[in-house]
Amino acid sequence: METTSIPDLFSPEVTADPHPAYRALRGLGPVRDDANNVWLLARHADVLDALHQPTVFSSEGGFGEFLAGRIGPAAGSSERAGVLGFDRIGDARLMIASDPPDHTKLRRVVSRPFTKRRIAAWEEMATGLTATLVDQLVERIRDEGSADLTKELAVPLPVTLIAEILGVPSSMMADFRRWSDALVGTLAAEIDVAEVGADLAEMSAFFFTVAEQRRRDPKDDLISAIAAATPDGEQLSTMEVVLFCILLLVAGNETTTNLLGNLQHAFWDHPDQWRRLRDDPSLAAAAVEEGLRFCGPVQALFRRTTQDCVLGGVEIPAEANVGVLFAAANRDEAVFEDPDRYVIGRPGGEHVAFGHGIHYCLGAQLARLETRVVLEALAERGIDLAPGGPSVRTANTVLQGYTSIPVTTA
Ligand code: HEM
Repeated sequence: METTSIPDLFSPEVTADPHPAYRALRGLGPVRDDANNVWLLARHADVLDALHQPTVFSSEGGFGEFLAGRIGPAAGSSERAGVLGFDRIGDARLMIASDPPDHTKLRRVVSRPFTKRRIAAWEEMATGLTATLVDQLVERIRDEGSADLTKELAVPLPVTLIAEILGVPSSMMADFRRWSDALVGTLAAEIDVAEVGADLAEMSAFFFTVAEQRRRDPKDDLISAIAAATPDGEQLSTMEVVLFCILLLVAGNETTTNLLGNLQHAFWDHPDQWRRLRDDPSLAAAAVEEGLRFCGPVQALFRRTTQDCVLGGVEIPAEANVGVLFAAANRDEAVFEDPDRYVIGRPGGEHVAFGHGIHYCLGAQLARLETRVVLEALAERGIDLAPGGPSVRTANTVLQGYTSIPVTTA
């Protein structure tokens, strides 16, 4: 029988440049990667189809469990359980890893603070902070010849905003960053269990203390709202409040930071598109949207099938791990013409960089706002950034971005 070779999305060679692998996988349709024990969905239509059947393609056990199974040989050991905090989580529910009816209740707890009206109120804060950070970036380039776009702008902007929204001091930015890096680091094949474990334990302990304080003494912030919510007629457990905080902190940080970095590189690779934006800053929102499609940071997330099913004409059995490849779907040539080019305002299909259906990104409007105000600030002030040295990439199966982007002015 003819065997087709399936690209290994977990290998460093593929994560360094996954797009050829995504193209090959789109050609194959839904396919099982035997080596990694996972079905892969790369076509736009198949990704949407799976996301619209959340009870068949379950997030419960799909998200954490599959990734946990990949983190080193110690899977299932108490050492590993400690790293991910599973021993302390017990029955606590995590929204992104839950199915209806739990998901519906948990989502209701946080959907009000993330309405369009609330987000509009954050625009002023985002614009003011961005102006300050861009000033500092420009000053540093003037004084030192170059500066790091990631450190000066792409990291502090989202972390400061999400800290404000949650109600924790943004002066702890360095800790938040270290904690989210540790959690995202667990996605890598090789981790230093002791080091990552210590960071994650510190993060849980911090949010545990804050959650208990806010229960006793509520403030006008998101943690207090989560701690006081009664989705089941009673309050969430403290561990559930902690998991919410960690989800918002990590999901709200790494993603937007990486989108900003990826976009800068997209502009360097497509200088005509940067010139269009600089000449007409009102294109910023469209530039963000195309950035999400072309270089959205979230590559893939995982589901687990609850029953036998047919997707894209292929039978997938119950209890299968399924990788939903958002970034592959966003370059599907059946939906996007000339998909490997970054073209602001391109006509046609809708990207799935924020997912789709019931788990659609809660922070999508916030992420769009943060990224747009940065592009507007750079374009309106005509700041032509040029590479100031080699960038450092961070790439794994789930996330793609940069940890360092030295820049100078052209
Ligand atoms: C460029 C930035 C971002 C990207 C590309 C992104 C991407 C995604 C994706 C693909 C999902 C779907 C997960 C799934 O289907 O399993 C998701 C869910 C989620 N995102 Fe984002 N995200 C971004 C920014 C943010 C921000 C700023 C926040 C914080 C406020 C946030 C919070 C969340 C939460 C809480 C969920 C879970 C929603 C649910 O399970 O119902 N994200 N995001």
